[in-house]
Amino acid sequence: MASTPRIAVVGSANTDLITFADRFPRAGETMFGTGFDLGFGGKGANQAIAARLCGAEVLMLAKVGNDLFGEATLRNFASFGIDTAHVQVVEGVPTGVAPIFVEPGGQNRIIVVKGANERITAADVDAAAPELRGVDTIILQFEIPLDTVYHTIRFARAHNIRCIVNPAPALPAQLADLTGADYFIPNETEAELISGRPVRTIEEAASCAAVLLEKGFRRVVVTLGARGSLVADPAGHFHIPAFPVTAVDTTGAGDAFIGSFAVFLAEGVPEKDAVARANLYAALSTTRIGTQKSFPRRVEFEAEWARRSAPAR
Ligand code: RIB
Repeated sequence: MASTPRIAVVGSANTDLITFADRFPRAGETMFGTGFDLGFGGKGANQAIAARLCGAEVLMLAKVGNDLFGEATLRNFASFGIDTAHVQVVEGVPTGVAPIFVEPGGQNRIIVVKGANERITAADVDAAAPELRGVDTIILQFEIPLDTVYHTIRFARAHNIRCIVNPAPALPAQLADLTGADYFIPNETEAELISGRPVRTIEEAASCAAVLLEKGFRRVVVTLGARGSLVADPAGHFHIPAFPVTAVDTTGAGDAFIGSFAVFLAEGVPEKDAVARANLYAALSTTRIGTQKSFPRRVEFEAEWARRSAPAR
């Protein structure tokens, strides 16, 4: 059996304030919600937890504020057995927070206040270089300064480490500084912003991926929510359908996809199967409320995978 994958996440850690309501409020309106959940989030932290729950050894490089949310975030990482030697507490800024509104059916709207995440620098990445050099995969997102993202991609390339970039949330970025990534994995909204092309259908996702490949990306995976994922490289593209589930909260599903995909690939699972597996891992996360707390453990995932991928009799 292959050795345990080692994954590093250079990314954000937030506290999620999740409010459930029958609909979103209009401007100037106060309305009653139907539920509330306080949880650990941040795209980086979520991806780290997903990778850990899938069985990887995980190193997190992050920053939190010197506040209750920061302390709790550190304890949360430790409770999962994530290496926090490079999670720093910074003075004078709050831990990142994310008020999240969820409608019936699971759709969400999120505002991220970056706080300490904004303080992660290229120098922090260089300080962690001895540990980072030992990982199989580095995962990045856009909730930290983009200059740090660009620097980390160059670092990964220089050291022959697989690099996965999830350009979330959607932001204008310098594409030439991103194309060193081995995998570029936007969702529909992020793909539209970066390519300037609409992504309303699977065909449009393929056209958008083609534009990104022309700009120099090596492999693009567009995640399409309930429609699955579109994988493209210079040799062509293919679509992997989603697994049907009853979604109650889609928050963090994209992060579940990225964290699990990184582990499956590092284990040597062929790309097509790794995407299909990550589709299922993400789908299962939408059947429970919350972000990290909705992510299945590997054993649960494998049981569901065996059930859903078994040939029909
Ligand atoms: O992708 C979901 C995440 O986006 C939430 O956990 C929130 O913190 C924001 O970062």
